[in-house]
Amino acid sequence: MFHYSGWRLVAATSNAGMLGVLAPEDPIRMRESIRSIKSNTNKPFGVNIYLLPEHLVKNQPTVPPAVVNKLNEYRKELGLPLNPPTPTEDSYKQQVDDQLQIAIGEKVSTVVFTFGIPTLEIIDKLRNANINILGSATTISEAVALEEAGVDAVILQGVEAGGHRTSCNLPEYGQVGLLSLIQLAKKQLKIPFIAAGGITSGKAIRLAIEAGADGVSIGSLFLTSEECSTPLAHRKALYEATPESATVLTRVFTGRPARMFRNRFFNEMDAIWKENGGVEQIPWNFYARDIFGQAARSNNPDLFIVWANQSVGLLGGRETQPAAAIIKTLCKEC
Ligand SMILES: Cc1cc2nc3c(=O)[nH]c(=O)nc-3n(C[C@H](O)[C@H](O)[C@H](O)COP(=O)(O)O)c2cc1C
Repeated sequence: MFHYSGWRLVAATSNAGMLGVLAPEDPIRMRESIRSIKSNTNKPFGVNIYLLPEHLVKNQPTVPPAVVNKLNEYRKELGLPLNPPTPTEDSYKQQVDDQLQIAIGEKVSTVVFTFGIPTLEIIDKLRNANINILGSATTISEAVALEEAGVDAVILQGVEAGGHRTSCNLPEYGQVGLLSLIQLAKKQLKIPFIAAGGITSGKAIRLAIEAGADGVSIGSLFLTSEECSTPLAHRKALYEATPESATVLTRVFTGRPARMFRNRFFNEMDAIWKENGGVEQIPWNFYARDIFGQAARSNNPDLFIVWANQSVGLLGGRETQPAAAIIKTLCKEC
């Protein structure tokens, strides 16, 4: 989970019997995190690598003045300088090459690819290094494309999931429910698949497996774990969730569809984007990441991204727990 599942959560989940996966980090930090994981577990773990098309990352669209003005209002409110951050000039391809090199050099057990389909060259490199290769899909056609590319297994993300849609086939952005995805995958795929989206209890794990999944992937539930670096205001919003709490799938925060709580930023920016011709596919987080960062630091849930899945109502009333305790409960419920 980007920004959230650092080495502590990975080591804790792997120690407790799951496969912890390190969210993407810049190569220097990634190597340090992998070494910290290895010092804290001898169990297998994975790393996540984004395969975003370079033109999307480098793209610097014209941001409408109404949007710039609104963002600067937030900056004033949060006491930030008015100049927005500029997109990174790093070569994105170089970053992916470095991340792959580190994964191979450090002999991680698994690489999970998100937002793209690995090339034959990448598959060969990882295969020669005996590393398991997983790809992320939100539709069956994406899953089949990943299977044809040669991955070992696919993570199928249902529309219920918190965080970004992990689609690898832009601009499709699948919005299929998990149960439909599982049944379709059972019919269409020859390789194993892992179900993700809305899973918050042992019973849901059992249901996914009985329907045909070979495993499950869980995100939002671990935002409540002690080892996850979830900001306090984010945790509070999760613990105060009710069965009626509604999430929204929107591009307003980052430019890519993602599921989170509705909040003031969503309500105000969605309206402005609509008035200005709709949300474009942009590396939007570059333009507002100072705002989200400062809002998170100052515990202001109105102006940062409160990621959550559609089952978030089940997190209401919970408390922060070690990941191992969460996993133990899931196992008991299965
Ligand atoms: C805060 C957060 C960050 C996420 N970051 C990533 C990521 O960096 N890479 C990725 O492949 N999926 C990411 N996801 C999606 C998860 O891998 C997974 O598909 C999803 O959490 C499963 O659904 P659930 O949230 O309903 O458990 C993230 C999810 C959340 C909630």
